[in-house]
Amino acid sequence: MRAPLDGLPESVTIYEVGPRDGLQNEKAIVPVADKAEFVVRLARAGLRTIETTSFVHPKWVPQLADAEELLDVLPRRPDLRYPVLVPNERGLSRALDNGVTEIAVFGSATETFARRNLNRTVDESIAMFAPVVERARAEGLWVRAYVSMVCGDPWEGDVPIAQVVSVAKRLMDLGCSQLSLGDTIGVGTPGHVTALIGALVDAGIGTDRLAVHFHDTYGQALANTLAALRAGVTTVDASAGGIGGCPYAESATGNLATEDLVWMLDGLGIATGVDLAELTATSRWMAGRLGRPSPSRVVQALSPVTGPSGLD
Ligand code: HMG
Ligand code: MG
Repeated sequence: MRAPLDGLPESVTIYEVGPRDGLQNEKAIVPVADKAEFVVRLARAGLRTIETTSFVHPKWVPQLADAEELLDVLPRRPDLRYPVLVPNERGLSRALDNGVTEIAVFGSATETFARRNLNRTVDESIAMFAPVVERARAEGLWVRAYVSMVCGDPWEGDVPIAQVVSVAKRLMDLGCSQLSLGDTIGVGTPGHVTALIGALVDAGIGTDRLAVHFHDTYGQALANTLAALRAGVTTVDASAGGIGGCPYAESATGNLATEDLVWMLDGLGIATGVDLAELTATSRWMAGRLGRPSPSRVVQALSPVTGPSGLD
């Protein structure tokens, strides 16, 4: 049964992060052919923005060391966007050499995570991004900025909203087009999310430039998404099957599952363009490749009765 709620958008753009955030934490290297098939199947399910990989140091994220090979085999279509993570000028050169047109830099609201994830202080990481954003824009690329640890940090605890807003403004002042709010360890709750978005809007970063990126560690991702939609955000990050986590953030588990998001949005009559059956089949297939069941409740619920595993 579909029933709308007042104050929500008519459509939502899903920014699929499964191939990047979903796979980056996997210890066993997934063959590049499987990664390519994953992206192709996600596109077939109707996803149009698919974050495919990262041009980071291969020693830091060995799973994504095949970024060049993957981009080389992916089908290019004018309606498909394949953003990639880029931390520095070396990463940008690699991305440009491989025909990338959309990138994301990724900053942190906290010093500890900046150090662990980028080997830099917050100031140093913003200084590292500045020439990346400048050159990317000069080359006509679209640039997203992530800010991580927007609700809490495993080493520093609660992260004050003013601290998030300060880093967010500095990232956007570099010239980024979109800011994705990363609740990296999934500790946020809807009231806090609402207050954070309000503070960002007050600081001049409107909801048309915001996206939300919730990890589902504490089961709050959907509730937080609804709060963000009510606040005016219309771009939501999600990972097919709910796979994922950050290798440099203790306790980070998978992102909001794309299926769980689509189920809620379908029920609210909000258009996404995603075919849930096709997407669920894709996540079940990937769960089989990874050798463990999808953590998504919707994938499990829609699985044939082969047991609760969600594995074929
Ligand atoms: P560093 O060790 O300080 O690097 O790492 P460096 O600048 O000192 O360079 C050392 C060597 O690495 C040099 O080579 C560079 O050329 C090379 P050498 O001269 O010694 O032969 N190098 C590279 N090689 C290939 N590609 C590159 C590159 N850069 C340097 N791009 C660095 C600094 C930023 C590179 C490192 O810390 C890194 O790669 N970090 C990435 C960590 C990462 O990917 N984390 C996961 C993504 S973030 C996330 O998941 C959160 C998010 O989902 C949002 C949320 O949930 O909150 C986005
Ligand atoms: Mg993430």
